[in-house]
Amino acid sequence: MAERYPAAHMNAFVIRGGGPLRGEVRVGGAKNSALKLLAAALLAPGRTVLRNVPDIADITTMTAVVEHLGCRVWRDGDRLTVEVPEEVGDETPAHLVGRLRASIIVLGPLLARRGRVRVATPGGCNLGNRAIDLHLSGLAQMGAEIIYGADHVEARVERLAGADIDLPFASVGATENILLAAVTAEGTTTVGNAAREPEIADLAALLSAMGADIHGAGTSEITVRGVGRLSPAHHTVLGDRIEAGTYAVAAAVTRGSVAVDGFDPAHLRLVLAKLRVVGARVDERPGGVTVSAEDGLRSADIVTLPYPGFPTDLQPQFLLLLTQAAGTSMLTENVFDGRFSIVDELVRLGADIAVEGHHAVVRGPRTLRGASVRAPDLRAGAALVLAGLVAEGETVVTDAAHVDRGYADIAARLRALGGDVRRIDVVATAV
Ligand code: UD1
Repeated sequence: MAERYPAAHMNAFVIRGGGPLRGEVRVGGAKNSALKLLAAALLAPGRTVLRNVPDIADITTMTAVVEHLGCRVWRDGDRLTVEVPEEVGDETPAHLVGRLRASIIVLGPLLARRGRVRVATPGGCNLGNRAIDLHLSGLAQMGAEIIYGADHVEARVERLAGADIDLPFASVGATENILLAAVTAEGTTTVGNAAREPEIADLAALLSAMGADIHGAGTSEITVRGVGRLSPAHHTVLGDRIEAGTYAVAAAVTRGSVAVDGFDPAHLRLVLAKLRVVGARVDERPGGVTVSAEDGLRSADIVTLPYPGFPTDLQPQFLLLLTQAAGTSMLTENVFDGRFSIVDELVRLGADIAVEGHHAVVRGPRTLRGASVRAPDLRAGAALVLAGLVAEGETVVTDAAHVDRGYADIAARLRALGGDVRRIDVVATAV
């Protein structure tokens, strides 16, 4: 009998380059908020209800994490109900943390509730050195003892105590973990040089609805007065500014016209400004924008920075856009080391991009031609799907599952805008 090998799962987007995208698209709730809101629910026994939760793979993984910790979670449309037991678990398994680095966010809430937490060493997107030292030193300043294992980290504390914590870098995850630990700690915690992302204000909004006492979330100075106990609450997740920015680039790069709704344009201020510099027309309204462009895109210089700077999560999409703009553009990545993973793939499609350290120099415009490329991570994968829309002929983007982590049904949404994008999932069993 022939020997059977494990099934290989091949998933890809197949895109035929074509005309401009036109129409309307509504983005879902912010992935980077919803993930943390699920962790926040752990702080209060009972039912927390979240609306506008995106139906994406990262949320499925985070749901599995909180289920592993003893919660029951069910979805009804875009509403997720999290039923948290009196006694939650204190360990997260390696296979889930490996799939979702952001699951490290359970450190704060579990330490607060259990006084002990053990998490496997995180995986997730391969974006250079993504240390968690700031998360851990914040918790240590609140009294936690940190024990490093070969493949896990453990934290223990009798009772978390408020502290004055100054972050050397405005880390999103560290700010959130400290916030989650501080809300029920003894005394007052201040976070200096806190990250200012809108998702942090959204997290604080849920925590406040649960009974927490937080001031300054969304600014660089957050003050948290510890309260005894939190209660479950209802909350609507804010719109996903990164998903919105991705569709905005799709409109501009295809020289189309797309109305993007379901988010606050104030959260995309600098991105919209850069779209205008590149030559797109951007009309803002409450809850959305319409982005349109014609031929004659121009070069621009972009520097990624923590919010309100230009978001690193839209850097690969803009790198693509700049390949279609006349002139030389310089894109500087300041947030993540390894985030030029898209460059080799774009070059394979015909782009002219040279990387020097954390700068990418893009010379445009260049005609892109369809080829087989690989999605190296979530945002670069989405940008490659958009590249397929402007490349001549057929582009195949393999490892499509990366894109599923953060985009609900991107192929169907782009098809609804007139793009020729198909998704193929093949389970091949070698015999
Ligand atoms: C979050 C977002 C991610 C986004 C990023 C920056 C989620 C789930 N992910 O990631 O999409 O790209 O913000 O906007 O919300 N760092 C350290 N030590 C730490 C923590 C971070 O050195 O303890 C470094 C990282 O290596 C990285 C930089 O700080 O170079 C930014 O990290 P951070 O702001 O923490 O991003 P994440 O929370 O991981």
